[in-house]
Amino acid sequence: MRKQIAAANWKMNLTFQQGEKLLDDILEAGVKLEKHQFAIFAVPYPYLLMTRSEVEKEEGNYYVAAQNCYHKKAGAFTGEVSTEMLHSMNIKYCVIGHSERREYFAESNAMLAEKVNLCLESFITPIFCCGEPLEIREAGTQNDFVATQLRESLFHLPADKISTIVIAYEPIWAIGTGKTASTEQAQEIHKYLRSVLANQYGEAVANDIPILYGGSVKANNAKELFSCPDVDGGLVGGASLVAADFVEIIKALK
Ligand code: PGA
Repeated sequence: MRKQIAAANWKMNLTFQQGEKLLDDILEAGVKLEKHQFAIFAVPYPYLLMTRSEVEKEEGNYYVAAQNCYHKKAGAFTGEVSTEMLHSMNIKYCVIGHSERREYFAESNAMLAEKVNLCLESFITPIFCCGEPLEIREAGTQNDFVATQLRESLFHLPADKISTIVIAYEPIWAIGTGKTASTEQAQEIHKYLRSVLANQYGEAVANDIPILYGGSVKANNAKELFSCPDVDGGLVGGASLVAADFVEIIKALK
């Protein structure tokens, strides 16, 4: 079975102590993950080591992710963090191209292609985000929009590399708004994304790539969303900050 992933995106929330407490509460619930199921915590940079040592105590597939990395290898870039640094801290995942980074930090598809390359060179799995704004959805051109995001940031990769990454489809109009895509909308565009991957790389590769849904995933809608055949879990913001809710979301994985 394809990997199924519940990824928490804490964004710029929680103090260090609150983060420790939240992790403790979630891990104490002791949800047993099957071999194909993963729970990943994308936390602020200063919390990476603490989170890594917490999840390492768990049996099974609990991991930590960075929320971003810089698009250059090293050098005079004050305040930035490289993939090599993340690798040296044994961080295995990194969120790339979240819509908030695209919007507030002007991250382009070309820049994200650089980040993806650097992650892969550093043995880090990118969780690559794509997704359309409301006006594109209203115009009905969301398929072309997301296909372009994949093409311009990922399609330079050879098949053996793209097959290792994780994609997260996050419609911007659903992020933090409480407005979730319907299961039909989610399944339709996830299936479309998989067909775009299949056209470029073949069915076998496309069928192996997990495609997560993000945008107001909650404890009470996760099961239904994750039950869609092409939805392989979720990237979760708000509901990942509440232990009981995120535990339910992990349990909702196929
Ligand atoms: P949300 O955020 O769950 O709060 O909508 C999702 C995300 O931005 O990854």
